[in-house]
Amino acid sequence: MSPRGAPRRAAYENVRQTIASLLDGEDDFVAAMATAACELHHAFDHYDWTGFYRVTRPGLLVVGPYQGGHGCLRIPFERGVCGKAARDRATVLVPDVEAFPDHIACSSTTKSEIVVPVLTPEGALLAVLDVDSDAPGAFDDDDRSGLEAICADLGRAFSGSPSTPA
Ligand code: SME
Repeated sequence: MSPRGAPRRAAYENVRQTIASLLDGEDDFVAAMATAACELHHAFDHYDWTGFYRVTRPGLLVVGPYQGGHGCLRIPFERGVCGKAARDRATVLVPDVEAFPDHIACSSTTKSEIVVPVLTPEGALLAVLDVDSDAPGAFDDDDRSGLEAICADLGRAFSGSPSTPA
């Protein structure tokens, strides 16, 4: 399990800066999501699946770049933790997936997860970032704020980009 508190916050600040410098000048959203998923996945021991689901048409999420075992391909907004984050346009933190009735189990080893929307400053939903852990209660408010900052960076950078659906 990754350390909590200040070390975890510092790790998020580091990975955020790394992603920002790797993406400097990049205008392709898929390339950006792939880079962010890779950097995040390898930065934290408590991550077991890290990836994006893209909004490809109203009400539908389709899997994008990810790290980990295979993820389910399509998630309608009505379903799962990802669908709830997309519907509410807000982060959903699930400490115990067994206690979330509509959790979609892509892997039987997942115990907790966090899903963060990628929103443009204008409020368009581009994607959601889903991180799953094999440990119960693996994510806390530092994960929430760290991931929200990175997703906000992506939303700002790709607002109005031809490489996004929005
Ligand atoms: N658990 C997610 C589905 C995506 S996979 O875990 C990669 C959900 O309930 O939306």
